[in-house]
This record gives sequence, C-alpha cells and structure tokens, in this order.
Amino acid sequence: MRMYDIIKKKRDNQPLTKEEINFFITGFTNGSIPDYQAAALCMAIYFNGMNIEETTALTLAVRDSGDKLHFSNINGLRVDKHSTGGVGDKTSLIVAPLVASCGVKIAKMSGRGLGHTGGTIDKLEAIPGFKTDLSTEEFERIVNETGIAIVGQSAELAPADKKLYALRDVTATVDSMPLIASSIMGKKLAADDDCIVLDVKTGSGSFMKTIEQSKELARIMVDIGKSAGKRTLALITDMDIPLGNAIGNALEVKEAIEVLNGKGPKDLTEVCLCLATNMLYLAEKGSIEECERMAKDAIASKKALNTFVQMVKAQGGNSEYILRPELFKNADYIYEVKATEEGYIYSVNTEGYGIASLLLGAGRNVKEDKIDFSAGIILRAKTGDFVNKGDVIATLYSEKNAFEASAKKLLESTKICATPPEKRDLVLARVE
Ligand code: URA
Repeated sequence: MRMYDIIKKKRDNQPLTKEEINFFITGFTNGSIPDYQAAALCMAIYFNGMNIEETTALTLAVRDSGDKLHFSNINGLRVDKHSTGGVGDKTSLIVAPLVASCGVKIAKMSGRGLGHTGGTIDKLEAIPGFKTDLSTEEFERIVNETGIAIVGQSAELAPADKKLYALRDVTATVDSMPLIASSIMGKKLAADDDCIVLDVKTGSGSFMKTIEQSKELARIMVDIGKSAGKRTLALITDMDIPLGNAIGNALEVKEAIEVLNGKGPKDLTEVCLCLATNMLYLAEKGSIEECERMAKDAIASKKALNTFVQMVKAQGGNSEYILRPELFKNADYIYEVKATEEGYIYSVNTEGYGIASLLLGAGRNVKEDKIDFSAGIILRAKTGDFVNKGDVIATLYSEKNAFEASAKKLLESTKICATPPEKRDLVLARVE
C-alpha cells in the first residue's frame, strides 16, 4: 500500500477502505508517513468528506493508536463532557466540579486552545501551582478522594490525534466534520468513561457554522459513542455570541468562580446547568427535572464551589485564588474599545473575538508560544444591547501595550444596526 495512492483516491472523491485508513494512522503515528502527506490527505478529506463507515474506521484507528485507559481503581460511574470548541467557553471549569459534587466521578482529560478557541488546560494553568500532568496513580487517588481530577491528554492516549490536531491547526483543516468527529470520539473511546455528554457548538465562533452541520456532527458522534457501548448524548449550543463576558484564561477562571458562587452571567449559567443536568441524567441520578434541581442546589449550597476548591488543592494549585479571585495578577495594560456609532449590537463574528483575544497574548500563534494568562477581553455589551457612540463595548487586557490590531479586529467583528436582532435560544437541540 502507498500513501500516494490513498491521497489520490480521496482527492478523486472515492471512499477509503478500513485497511487504507489504518495504514495512514499507523504510519503517521510511527513517523513513516511524513507531515506533508498527512496534510495533503487532511485537505482532501476537508474538501471531499468521508462517509459514516470511513469516519467510524478513522475514529477507531485514532482510538487504537495508543494506550487505552483503564481506571480500575476508580469506584463508581464516570461521566465526561467534551465541547467541540468555542470562544469564552469555560463550561468545563463549572460543570465538572458541579457534577462531581453531586456524587458522579469526573476523571477528565482536556485539551489546549485550538485555532481561535480556548482550551481548559490552558485556563486551569492560570491558577498558580495547578498541575495538569499527573501520574495515573495520583490521578486515580485524587478522583477517588475529591470526586474529580482534570489533566491534559497524555502522550500515550490517542497519539495519532495529538499529532493530527497540531497539523490541522496550522493547515486550515480543523473545521472538517469527519476530522472533528474522529478526533473527539477517538480520544473519548480511548478514555475509560461510562457516559459522554457532547457540547456541539454552532455559529460564528464554532467550527460548525450552521445548525444543520452541527446536528449532523452531533448525530455522527452520538452514533459512534453508542456503538462503542458508551451512553452518549449531545446538546447543540449557541456559539454565535461568546459565552459569558470573559475571553482569556485567568479572566475566564474568575468568571467560572462567579458562576460557582451563583453570581455569574445568565447565559453561561444556563448552558452550564443544562450540560450538568444531562451529565447527571446519563449517570442515572434521576429524571431530567430531578437532575436539574440537583444541579441548581449544588450551586446555591456552594457544594460545587467547594469541590472546585478541593480539586485545585489536590492538583497542587493555590486554592486561595478560588476563594479570593482578586488575587489573580492583573494585566499590565488595559484599553477600552468604544462603539463608533449608535444602535443595537445586531451580531458579532465570534471567531473574530477569539482572534482579537489571541492577538492580546491569550492564545498561541505557533505551538511554542507562551501564553499571557492575564490577557483577554471583558465584553461590556453583547448582541441585543443598545449602545451610544463612544460607549465602551469591551475592555482589553494584555502584558504588551499594543492594542491596535486587537481593537480593530473586535470592531470589525461587531455589527451595529438601528433595529435589534431576534433572540436566539442558547440550547438549540438535543441529540440522543
Ligand atoms: N476538539 C477536539 O478535540 N478535536 C477537534 O478536532 C475539534 C475540537
């Protein structure tokens, strides 16, 4: 078999066999297939897609490219949640401790930022001392003791995805349905969870821009999860607006703490409660109504906040920062972006907001870039709000006093009109 022929076949829009897909993933993982051939195949997949048999074969090949986790020492059902990626999406920081505080184990592997989207591991590392690489023994012990631990993906788990993820990030091949589905589900199937709730984002800030595409992606991932014996469901949630008001690592941790204190933004709180409810439901904690009540109680009683504090302590982080978020280091420089005209914020290009945050230092342009944890954006006005000319619509934070490109991107990404936009639901569909 030759990689050249596999690329040519997909370029000519013909379906690949399971053997060809396995040949590609094995060769790419062990280094015998170079990046340039893998990139060419990803681009051919981007343009010509894959049918469900090919997508399933690619998912299983990614799953089998490395170790499979077996947390034999963790007692009780384990539930995971995975987002397809968004801007200001700090839901894992909230729902994971929330669900754990209700007695369901969370043994979570999360990712770093990808493209214009943020990643949970980068956010957690904004908490001084927080360790995101633990040995399996430490990880299992912490999950058993506190109900939750969150770590980065180990090099041994789905290594094919680790390499492909990095390659796709720099070759404009992230937003492909079969590549996203196999990336997420390959990792999820290699991890030892019983239930998976998928948060499939839709809209201008997500990799799937339309609700139809998002539903199709959700359907594919749910079917793959179920056929592998995992209880799986997906929620389609809105990413036409950044979630909450904060974009950027430490700023998002602070906002997550506000939600756990019952004082967070309404949109973020609503999406988190819905995700947590569905995670508790899959873990058989009761009916949807009972699980929703349980999730709300966990916030009101501060049980969820306390679990977050315990997790931070157990993973070496300074938990004083969670109790007193004002301890987080402020950015050295601040800049206010003002509305250039009067009217309603009619729509925003959320991807543009993600890029504006990246330009401030909150994300990476190349793999090796160091993140400025204090960098990011606080939105002062969001879609549907009325603004006067000169009103502050966003505050930018950064270690570098160079705001021009970021402010320009943010303004370009904000459409102001004389009429208000139609209201859109935050949770748009549920795929079971
Ligand atoms: N999240 C992933 O884990 N993989 C993707 O391809 C996109 C989002």
